This record gives sequence, C-alpha cells and structure tokens, in this order.
Amino acid sequence: MAKDERMEKVVNLLERRGFIFASGQIYGSLAGFFDYGNYGTLLKRKIEQNWWNFFVGKRNDVAGIDGAIVSSQAIWNASGHLAEFSDPLIECKKCHTRFRADSLIEDELKISLEGASLDNINKLILENKLICQNCKGVLEIAKPFNLMFKTYVGASEDESATAYLRPETAQMIFTNFKQVQMSSRKKLPFGIAQIGKAFRNEISPRNFVFRCREFSQMEMEFFMHPEKLDDCQINEDELGLEINVLTAKMQENKEKESKTTFAILLNGKSIGTKWHAYWIIKAYEWFLGLGIRKENLRLRQHVKTELSHYSFETWDLEYNYPWGWKELSGIANRGDYDLKAHMISSKKDLTYFDDETKIKVLPMVIEPSFGLERAFLTVIIDAFEEKMEGDEKKTILHLNPNTAPNECAVFPLMKKDGMAQKAIEIFEMLRKNTACEYDEAGSIGKRYARQDEIGTPYCLTIDYDTLKDETITIRDRDSTKQKRIKIGDCQSTLTALLNGAEF
Ligand code: GAP
Repeated sequence: MAKDERMEKVVNLLERRGFIFASGQIYGSLAGFFDYGNYGTLLKRKIEQNWWNFFVGKRNDVAGIDGAIVSSQAIWNASGHLAEFSDPLIECKKCHTRFRADSLIEDELKISLEGASLDNINKLILENKLICQNCKGVLEIAKPFNLMFKTYVGASEDESATAYLRPETAQMIFTNFKQVQMSSRKKLPFGIAQIGKAFRNEISPRNFVFRCREFSQMEMEFFMHPEKLDDCQINEDELGLEINVLTAKMQENKEKESKTTFAILLNGKSIGTKWHAYWIIKAYEWFLGLGIRKENLRLRQHVKTELSHYSFETWDLEYNYPWGWKELSGIANRGDYDLKAHMISSKKDLTYFDDETKIKVLPMVIEPSFGLERAFLTVIIDAFEEKMEGDEKKTILHLNPNTAPNECAVFPLMKKDGMAQKAIEIFEMLRKNTACEYDEAGSIGKRYARQDEIGTPYCLTIDYDTLKDETITIRDRDSTKQKRIKIGDCQSTLTALLNGAEF
C-alpha cells in the first residue's frame, strides 16, 4: 500500500469509528483543532494513564503538578519564548497566502530541512526560484513568526493585560520549582511532571493530529545536582538495548542511521550525561510498551543549528511516518537555562540547598517531553492493517491492551432464547475489572469486524451451548482463533491474556 494511501485510510478509520475528528464540523472547522469521540477518548485516557503510571505513579522521585494554561507575559519574556519561539514564515507578494517556509521547501524540493537557519531557507528559495504554491506569485523574504497565542486577562485589552496560552507545559514546572520541591520534600535528583494542554499557532498544521494548534503534552523536568549529572544507575539490560541511531556527527557526514546500543552511545560520549541516556532509554521503553514496533523508531540527535533556544543537547525519538522520519518525542538537556532565567527575571531565589555540602546550587535539567496526539496517532498508524479475506477488505487495529479502547467485547449469538440476558450478565460481571463493550446489533461477523477495526483484542460470544453447559467462545483478534472456556474462568482467562499469556 502506498504510504499516502495508508495515511488516508488511517484518517478515514479514525473519523468513521469516531476516534478523533476536526473540531466543530457543523460550522466548518478551524484548521489544527480536533475533538475526540468515544473510542478516541478511551484510547487517549489510556495513554495518559499509562504515561503517568510509568513516569510518576510507580516512582518515588517524581512529583506531579497541574498548572494553569494562561500565563503572564513576564513568564514568556523570561523563558525566551517571546523572542525565540518562532517558525519561518513566507508570504506571497501577489495573493498574500502565508506558508511555513521550511515546509514549502521540503514539499517542493523533497529534502529534509531539519536545522536549517533562516538565511539558508531564504537562500534555498532564491536559488531554486520557488514560487507561491497557490498563485505562482513571487515570494517575500522568510521572517520569523512567533507561535504563541495571545490573549487579554480581565476587562482591559492594553499591554499590561496581555497574557499567553502556554506553548509548552514545562514553564509551569520551572516557575513552581521551589514551591513543589518544598511541599513534596523531594531531594535532588527528582522530577516534576505534568500532563496538560499546550497551544501553538502553527503556520501550517498538517498530517492530521501530527501538527495541530491545540494539543496535550506529557512532560517531566528532571532536576539534578550540577555536579552529579552522571550519578545514575542504568541496568545492564537497558544499556544493551538496541536502537537505530543518527548522531549529529553522522548527519554532518551525511551517513545513514545505524543500529547501536545505549552502552556504546554512552561510552563513546555521544550522549553527554548518564541521566540524559537514562531518560532517553525510559522514553524508548515507554513507546515499546505501547506496542510501537522497534524497527519503526530511531533516535536522532539535533544538529547545532536546530537546537531550541533553551537546549544544550536534544535527542528526538523519531517514527517512520508515511511522510518520513519525524519527531515523536524529544528528550532535551535544558541545563540551568530556565531556572536561571526565571531567577533573574523574578528576582526570587530558585536555588536548592544541598544538605550534604551545605551549599546552594542551581539544578540542571533533563526534559523528556511527549505529545499526546503524536503518541495517539503513532500507536494507530503502527497498529493499522488492511487485508483481504475472500473478496472482503478487512481493517484491523493490532492495539495492545495498554492502548485498546475496549479490552474485550461481549456478544449474544442472537438476542432470543435468553442468550442476550446471559450475555448481559457476563458483560456486567467483566466490566467491573475490564474495559468492556456489549454489542447485540447485526450479524456476528459484522460485530467481530467492528471490534477488529477499533482494536479490541478479545471477543466473547454466548450461544445455545452456553445455556446448556456454561461455556462461551473466546476469539483472539490477531489470529482469529477461537476456543471455548467456562464462564467461571472467564475473568481469570481474560486477565491472563491481557497480561501477555498465549491464547
Ligand atoms: N517542552 C519542550 C517542548 O515543548 P517540543 O519538541 O517543541 O519541545 C514536545 O514539543 C513534544 O510535543 C513533541 O515531541 C511533540 O510530540 C509534541 N508537539 C509539539 N508541537 C506539536 C504540535 N503542533 N502538534 C502536536 N504535537 C506537538
């Protein structure tokens, strides 16, 4: 299947089955805004919950927060976002259509522009005589366009009332660092994490929810003593994990990615510090746990010109999307950039008192940052399969139980003769512990197909034999194999299967 065709089919499935769709469609939607439907909401919540358990709930060294979305101009001045958080914008002199300049070049020249400076972008446009994609008019010079959404707080609309919707959740963690550290009594090294909305006025939102204007981030700022950046335990299994890697040096030398281990990356000093490697490994493991296939992931280091204004070293986990390798998640070394900037700007002491040395230090930070919509879309793209069964086209989402909206579905073969009653009884029993759906509409084949499309791993069918011998049929989505089990064993069998037992 062609890559574009695959993406079209994924989007079609997501809209048709009500996972996620353009927001407010009855009035014509604003580009870059989406609403989640029933199955999408269930899947999104699972990803959020899974992230929270993995990065916060199961650890003793991470505290959680939930910060405000709107914040004062002072925060974004200090963080550097007002001055630096921009993309290159280019406008047509004739029809005045505006484009993201690097995307326009990538579309026209079929090259990747990661890390290109504004000067390089303008040079490429001139040298290649690129013109407006809308009217073929001549293009202006590309300029930086700030991506933050501006608003006003209160009844006035003057400068002093100006505020911004946060373009990253991270700044609420930095500005609350001292408060959270003291109230949670955490000692270095420790993290502060949050899941919440972020907003970016993207010049060209594209590829469905890959780049939208309103999205959720799952972020952690991990604070470390500046002299203990390598004071971290990584177990041998994790150091030996294999991953496709493209370092900044390999990109300079125009090499292709190659498979290596984290031990090699650390020993060769490709990754600057042990804590940075640790959080890259955790991010990688988390995505593998969502069921994303190893071969579709790679680790790419940002080249110097591409680093965000706050970053000293960034590694992206990239996915091989139908439109090429692109960032799924970023793990940045933000050093003391943010705490220092807020300390200078707010004139508040954001240092940490080290009990051992009795010296105040400004912690250094590693930031694993994840986009919820990107994780959501990537899980679906990776799980999507379309195949022919006889002359029928079948769509299957091979979601694992960590992401599947329904873990099982319960059907009566027919509604009559007490089968529906029995099925509802079993459904009510299972739903106490398992994400479960009851369905009695349409033929049994159609019901299986519906659940395959939304990624339900197991279906249970109640038939005439059930009424005689208290057994039901359980069907495995991926192999389509079926077997009979006792109603009394139903929950324990399901639990075992959802935890990885063989069918
Ligand atoms: N605090 C660091 C930060 O915000 P980023 O690389 O700009 O870094 C982090 O964003 C993650 O947020 C990305 O890896 C991506 O998953 C997600 N993200 C960024 N912009 C997005 C957009 N316009 N739409 C959807 N997700 C986005």
